[in-house]
Amino acid sequence: MKLAIGCDHVGIELKPVITEYLEELGHEVQDFGTQSDSRVDYPNYAQAVAKAVVSGNCDLGILICGTGVGISIAANKMNGIRAVVCSEPYTAKLSKEHNNTNILAFGSRVIGSELAKMITKEWLEAEFEGGRHQNRINQITELEKL
Ligand code: RB5
Repeated sequence: MKLAIGCDHVGIELKPVITEYLEELGHEVQDFGTQSDSRVDYPNYAQAVAKAVVSGNCDLGILICGTGVGISIAANKMNGIRAVVCSEPYTAKLSKEHNNTNILAFGSRVIGSELAKMITKEWLEAEFEGGRHQNRINQITELEKL
């Protein structure tokens, strides 16, 4: 798969670790920054990754900030994005199976790199189950029109 990745200055150390891990798993990664620890605003990176996913240029996205909260909230403002912030693998897996999440967010101040890798793997390997869950996704999509 082709994955979009982005972070703010707080996620700058975790981003290369996850990028390398994704490449080890055989995925292609497009990096949307940031590239230094200079203070930046996470909505810009959320927007870049979300656009790459919504446009179809990338299959899925990963976002990292201090808690994963701000960057996932920002991504979820974009139509077609279902971003989940996770600090354990169960939610990551179910968020794909039931909610068809297309962006995974982490808090680099919340979890370590090994847990982040485990969460990433669960999320990538999980598959959307469709059926009754698709009806609910359709309802979420309708909310985007309000
Ligand atoms: C930046 O200080 C911090 O607010 C940001 O990384 C993130 O945690 C926001 O949700």
